[in-house]
Amino acid sequence: MTDTKKTAQLSLNGETYELPIFSPTTGPDVLDIRKLYGQAGVFTYDPGFTSTASCDSTITYIDGGKGELLHRGYPIDQLASKSHHLEVCYLLLYGELPTAAQLEDFETRVTRHTMVHEQMHNFFRGFRRDAHPMATLVGVVGAMSAFYHDSTDINDPWQREVAAIRLIAKLPTIAAMAYKYSIGQPFVYPRNDLDYAANFLHMCFSVPAEEYHVDPILARAMDRIFILHADHEQNASTSTVRLASSSGANPFACIAAGIACLWGPAHGGANQACLEMLKEIGSVERIPEFIERAKDKNDPFRLMGFGHRVYKNTDPRAKVLKQSADEVLELLGVENNPLLQVAKELERTALNDEYFIEKKLFPNVDFYSGIILEAMGFPTSMFTPIFALSRTVGWISQWKEMIADPQNKIGRPRQLYLGETARDYIDIESR
Ligand code: CMC
Repeated sequence: MTDTKKTAQLSLNGETYELPIFSPTTGPDVLDIRKLYGQAGVFTYDPGFTSTASCDSTITYIDGGKGELLHRGYPIDQLASKSHHLEVCYLLLYGELPTAAQLEDFETRVTRHTMVHEQMHNFFRGFRRDAHPMATLVGVVGAMSAFYHDSTDINDPWQREVAAIRLIAKLPTIAAMAYKYSIGQPFVYPRNDLDYAANFLHMCFSVPAEEYHVDPILARAMDRIFILHADHEQNASTSTVRLASSSGANPFACIAAGIACLWGPAHGGANQACLEMLKEIGSVERIPEFIERAKDKNDPFRLMGFGHRVYKNTDPRAKVLKQSADEVLELLGVENNPLLQVAKELERTALNDEYFIEKKLFPNVDFYSGIILEAMGFPTSMFTPIFALSRTVGWISQWKEMIADPQNKIGRPRQLYLGETARDYIDIESR
């Protein structure tokens, strides 16, 4: 953030107020309104934060107009094609691509933390078998605060580091356990000889009764899904993690708050909702009917996996996933998958429709990811937990950045109050 000495003037009630302007390294200028209430006695109003920068950050940059996503300056398509998830985790956490020695050390640290406390197995058993894996995930990740007391002093940088590694390492284990529990199969322990994505597939799909070999091409596709969901600057769940953490709360509980926020269909829950929608549409003949419903103001239906608050051109993650869907389905010999046909035709129809063109609505990350995940064998209920485990590194990187910032303050928005003014209490007999 550079203080450019530029200012904006606000005229209000005959007074003029100077608002400093910050220039970011890239992106639009930012008006500093922190002193506005103290000086002018007014708040700003921005529900949904459409024009508000809630923090400064050096982690991720999105240019919604260009359809650009950078992690620490590196374009997402380069990371998705050339890197792998744990290297991207290192980049997000520490700011630079690792050397070979740094990467080896990091991978060893993560790998050594993949098991969960054995007592957590009992904790899992308290859930109903038919619980949604996201419900289980919110509960179990929150419960990590009760299992890992030795990494919860947020004022100690080393404990922050340990909490970060634990979360990145254990989320795949916990997500896989949530899946296994929901289908009544035994939990599968992590394997340190497998890489991050292959280990996750192994924990989800192997059973003690027989050998399971992870297909390296599927592991690569899984890893790419992890990379594409790793961080997305100040989205709703990340802002939730930051706000929850701003009070100094337990880091595991704060990540559980982020998972809760991610679950909603407007956010990470859209991947499950999108696949369910594609199944409901069922065939390309029915697409016009659903397009009409999405455009109808009196119908709450929206095209799931379409639209984005920031991207107004293209979501670069969706581009990579569309290509990945083709590759994975071909590998599995199901390139004529009817859902993929419906998805592609739906995308084509929407992108040629005036409503979607005018509102700048494009497929987002959730549009094609579900097709890949289903082809890999995951039930729809596991789609959002997979998003959550991928996004954990983003949440924890943003959390570390915030806690280490000496300017960190508790988040405390104000409001435009439209309720009653002060009035006297009326005894119940007189009401
Ligand atoms: N289908 C039909 N119309 C839509 C859609 C859609 N998917 N998305 C937005 N619109 C319309 C909306 O009705 C509104 O029209 P109008 O201006 O006439 O009232 C206009 O486009 C702007 O929509 P908005 O809801 O004000 O935009 P927003 O920035 O608040 O919401 C969004 C962004 C992603 C929540 C929204 O596009 C949406 O609900 N999409 C479907 C759910 C989805 O795919 N979510 C995943 C987002 S990406 C991954 C993630 O965040 O986890």
